[in-house]
Amino acid sequence: MIVVDVPGKLYVAGEYAVLEPGSPAVLIGVDRYARARLRVTGTSRRTITSSRLPGRTAEFVRRGTLFEPVPPADTAALTHVLAALATVDRYAAELGHEPLGFDLDIDSQLDDSATGRKFGLGSSGAVTVAVVRAAARAHGLRPTAETELKLALLALFSVDPHCSGGDVAASARGGWVYYRAPDRAPLAAALRRPGRSLAALVARRWPLLEVRSVPPPRELSLQVGWVGRPARSSDLVQAMKRAVSEHPSRYRQFVTASEHCVDELAAACDREDSRAITGALDTAGRLLRDLTALSGVAIESPELTRLRHIAEELGAVAKSSGAGGGDCGIALADPSVVPALQRRWREADIEPLNLRAIGGSLRVRLERSASKSAGNTPD
Ligand code: PMV
Ligand code: MG
Repeated sequence: MIVVDVPGKLYVAGEYAVLEPGSPAVLIGVDRYARARLRVTGTSRRTITSSRLPGRTAEFVRRGTLFEPVPPADTAALTHVLAALATVDRYAAELGHEPLGFDLDIDSQLDDSATGRKFGLGSSGAVTVAVVRAAARAHGLRPTAETELKLALLALFSVDPHCSGGDVAASARGGWVYYRAPDRAPLAAALRRPGRSLAALVARRWPLLEVRSVPPPRELSLQVGWVGRPARSSDLVQAMKRAVSEHPSRYRQFVTASEHCVDELAAACDREDSRAITGALDTAGRLLRDLTALSGVAIESPELTRLRHIAEELGAVAKSSGAGGGDCGIALADPSVVPALQRRWREADIEPLNLRAIGGSLRVRLERSASKSAGNTPD
């Protein structure tokens, strides 16, 4: 049994601007996970169970090199799982591997299991990485971190070519991550070209793509507040695209200002300059509020404004995280004010999530049975 735990993510800075190829964002991988458990069966069948498909087992049979659902079923809840499997299937086939039958179980802690509500911790991105990692391992492939990231990005872009992939980068790498997205259009075109090798595409350098770890601030505590209202990033991104198409030069100014701000944030982290880190975070939040003024798309909901004001009253800085409209906000606070910050957030119906950035040592285990570990094989 291959067991893979992949961290969820939160945006720190650079939202929306990161959708432009080459424009950066800083994200963190957090210590709440999507788990993929895969048991190779040696048959021509696959089963998939998922916390998103309670009480159901999706079954697939092999026809040629493809696996088709039996009976034909609605697999919408498994879109990212199936995209990740299709990507690894194609990659493995090009490397001469036979398609594998297996039982795959996906369990994401990134939604609120009690209510099924979403926190905005990047469940789809983390699931994509978890399935790519588990399926590659099932084939005995040991892709480099860069190859694995590219496979997961291609899977993600095949589902939504408009998203930046920042969530996948943060989940794949963990910790504080600086990410610049590649240009998705040429990648999609290359994949569509008949006879195009995925392995060759993955081996090639992707212009603009950059992923690197950033040292986390040591003197500041990262606090996460969930405002209890789920938001759909894809709807907000579509609305933003439409709105800013009427103001191309002002949008360009926003993107340029965001680039400077994110680069300053990463540089401030590199030199452990707390004052510059909080200054950059504050600027990142203000730029998003300016973007709302330009576009009319509400990023900082009233609950997120409340979250920020409480943090500011305690001398911390705070901003919306991700597409906004709900989900989570983040604050960087002096550790001494954290108890008061959490108490006042709770009083305002904001749930502190007690998440921590989870660093480098990502988890892959091989288990002989559900209860018995056959040793750790960190990636
Ligand atoms: O709300 P989230 O965490 O899904 O973040 C969305 C961030 C955007 O930049 C708005 C979109 C993206 O794909 O990067
Ligand atoms: Mg969100």
